[in-house]
Amino acid sequence: MRILVNAVVTAAALAMGASAYAAGDAAAGKQKTVMCEGCHGIAGYRTAFPSVYSVPKIGGQHAGYIVKALQGYKSGERSHPTMRAIAAGLSDQDMADLAAYYSADTAKTAAK
Ligand code: HEC
Repeated sequence: MRILVNAVVTAAALAMGASAYAAGDAAAGKQKTVMCEGCHGIAGYRTAFPSVYSVPKIGGQHAGYIVKALQGYKSGERSHPTMRAIAAGLSDQDMADLAAYYSADTAKTAAK
């Protein structure tokens, strides 16, 4: 019995270690990508306003990087106007969920 308990605890610890940014829920994040797909989901897409701008690939990026980038837009540390407007409306939970979704191998967005 004791061995079984140890095994369960170890498995849980491993599962947590595998997703250090695991506050995010990829399934919930997928629902939120409707806000992002218009730009990040189209191969080779460039935004036209305020100037022609190439949209970066976010699928497959590290979750921590995505959250940090979104926080940067929200705080004003990053200055792209469209992304700032979008990030301003995202909660920490939204960012974590979106990052969990986009960092998963299965998520695909436009190549740069
Ligand atoms: C109107 C078009 C548009 C929409 C909608 C949009 N983005 Fe972006 N996104 C951009 C552009 C353009 C950039 C590059 C801005 C820059 O250079 O700072 C960018 C940058 C980013 C970056 C930084 C990528 C990097 O490599 O540094 C992340 C992360 C990101 N977007 C996530 C999202 C998420 C999540 C959503 C939905 C909630 C979203 N974006 C919606 C156009 C858009």
